[in-house]
Amino acid sequence: MRPFGFFSLGTVKPQNMIDSDDPENADATEAIDNLEPGQTIGYQRKTHTLFIEPETIGKTVDFKTTFGNDQPVELEVGSGKALFLRNAAKERPNHNFYGIEIVRKYAFHGADRVKNLGLTNVKIMPGDALGFLKKVPDRNIVTVHLYYPDPWWKRKHHKRRVFTTEFVRDVQRVLVDLGQFLIVTDVADYFEHVQLLMTEFPEFERQPVPESHEPVHDLDYLTNFERKFRQEGRPIYRVAYLRKARLENGL
Ligand SMILES: C[S@@+](CC[C@H](N)C(=O)[O-])C[C@H]1O[C@@H](n2cnc3c(N)ncnc32)[C@H](O)[C@@H]1O
Repeated sequence: MRPFGFFSLGTVKPQNMIDSDDPENADATEAIDNLEPGQTIGYQRKTHTLFIEPETIGKTVDFKTTFGNDQPVELEVGSGKALFLRNAAKERPNHNFYGIEIVRKYAFHGADRVKNLGLTNVKIMPGDALGFLKKVPDRNIVTVHLYYPDPWWKRKHHKRRVFTTEFVRDVQRVLVDLGQFLIVTDVADYFEHVQLLMTEFPEFERQPVPESHEPVHDLDYLTNFERKFRQEGRPIYRVAYLRKARLENGL
């Protein structure tokens, strides 16, 4: 069991899914700075039932209509290739899982993988997490998962990080009372940033981290990036917060 993986490994360059040093990604990294809410990176147009086109959700997300039931909704921000959604949706069929992923081809690929298993309690939308959260009504989500957010490790790129004051403000707004906010990163500096920023939010209380287990096969990991980092023996930093119950004045 590796609850709070803390292994020394020397200096390994953390990775973004969108690696700004890769010339192939030059367009994507430039584009991410200029995204309007709801815009995504990539232009592939394909459809299937688990894949939500951003323009179909209108001004406000209605999870009940999206899933066709009112099961509790868990949101994964930056769902990548969707291993978490796949495993969690299988484990908790009485919850709905929504992935928001800015790179359209990953969002599509993730939705396709999940669909192949016959899971119906998952939807994935390509889009920017912050723009998406603005469309979610208050108290609509039971858990927000943020796993291995792109670190944008150069200081000049920190503004691209998803974890900002505005982001956390929206997370606390959309979470139900006693909802959870779970964050995992392999980047010590990002972990510091998360913990520091969270101290500005009295609405959240730090909680013990859910236990992780020793994987028994290749898909038995929290996420794709977790598999890669654990296999490489990198440090992993985990933190969990509880959204406190609102007081009568709504705070
Ligand atoms: C390092 S990857 C981790 C993917 C997955 N969570 C995992 O652990 O395997 C970070 C993911 O976040 C996505 N991402 C980055 N910024 C985002 C944003 N503003 N909104 C939604 N997704 C974002 C990236 O495209 C990428 O798929």
